[in-house]
Amino acid sequence: MTNTTVISVLGCKEEDITPLLRPAVEDLLAGYPVGMPTETVYGLAANALDSAACERIYRVKNRPADNPLIVHISSLYMLRLLVRRKSAAPVREKLTLKSLPCPSFSAEEVAVLDDLEIPECLKPVLLKFWPGPLTVLLPKTDNVPDIVTAGLHTVAVRFPQHPVARLLISSAGVPLAAPSANLSGRPSPTTAQHVLDDLNGRVNFIIDGGNSGFGLESTVLDATRKPPLVLRPGSITVNMLQELLPDVRVFRKGSDSLTAEEARQMEERPATPGMKYRHYSPTSPLLLFRSSPEADPHQIETTIRAFIAEELNADHRIARISPVPSSPPVHDDLYYEFPLAQRIQDQDQMARSLFAALRAADAVQPDLIVAQSVREEDEGLAIMNRLEKAASATRII
Ligand code: TXA
Ligand code: MG
Repeated sequence: MTNTTVISVLGCKEEDITPLLRPAVEDLLAGYPVGMPTETVYGLAANALDSAACERIYRVKNRPADNPLIVHISSLYMLRLLVRRKSAAPVREKLTLKSLPCPSFSAEEVAVLDDLEIPECLKPVLLKFWPGPLTVLLPKTDNVPDIVTAGLHTVAVRFPQHPVARLLISSAGVPLAAPSANLSGRPSPTTAQHVLDDLNGRVNFIIDGGNSGFGLESTVLDATRKPPLVLRPGSITVNMLQELLPDVRVFRKGSDSLTAEEARQMEERPATPGMKYRHYSPTSPLLLFRSSPEADPHQIETTIRAFIAEELNADHRIARISPVPSSPPVHDDLYYEFPLAQRIQDQDQMARSLFAALRAADAVQPDLIVAQSVREEDEGLAIMNRLEKAASATRII
């Protein structure tokens, strides 16, 4: 056990943040994991080039050793440490700043990509969505310890948008490996308090940078496959990726998005090992009502309410995670409701509130948590991916 200090940088100007981060940076460089805000969820960060430090991440989280970590960078130059160089003499592609979708990098920094084993089709994607909630798999160098990639030959890299995450990485001067900062199996943390709830006494520092803006983990894209494959949906949606990668596919169990050979390999050894674990699980069982997009919303609501009414009559304590507020509860001593947004169209808000709602629902220790499907379009795909992983049972309506 250790004393956990929360360093709040809320409301501070950038120049005032760096000195506040100093004790956390020293701790990081001494090999200890630190709680770090990012725009997706909070991460548990450690020096990605130090295998002993990364081992501590697994220990602090109780994470299975075969589930690899995402490495976070604060400049494209850091990719040189992580990603294999092209073996042939580097060819200078005609990648000029003018042709870039989002020229937030200098020409010199962009040129780093040309010398590395990065698929051509991926470069515009990186320059458009980095910094941001997109993680890509790239062939790794020997600098990246095996513990970070769980022995895989690819390293998952993300360039976060959150200014505090970027300051922490640049102050440390090394890429930071960071999984979500929850205990393994718990919902990902979207506030510093969630991190403290899970990791108090297990880390020396948590940096409080406010609520995570997106609220769901980054999109994970495997561009080493042809065509590229989204392994985990997130806020960078498939539609957004399609503009630059027209043939991008999404991994879904049992769907026909994979070739037969890929599906067989995926069963044997999941491309993203995190897939095989039940995630985000509240302690109470979660029943997910799943409806088809054509189903009548009123009928869905009637069915769910009838189910809840029966449960309440049996004296069961129910926590409902509803997309929007439903009608006032009948039994206010047994019924708790956690709406994700005020309006059904507000998917961003639903994504932002989902993990906090799962934690809050669990905290009332219900006999059952009831949730329902949302439209699997845009961010809805990511929301459903997380709800399905949290569910202990699904009922089709
Ligand atoms: O938004 C995020 O991605 C957050 C913040 C902290 O950056 N991080 C995060 O990390 O969600 P984590 O560890 O909870 O999820 C990482 C996912 C896991 O499903 C893991 O299996 C997969 O990425 N992954 C990591 N490295 C991989 C690799 N080399 N190949 C395939 N999948 C990989
Ligand atoms: Mg996680």
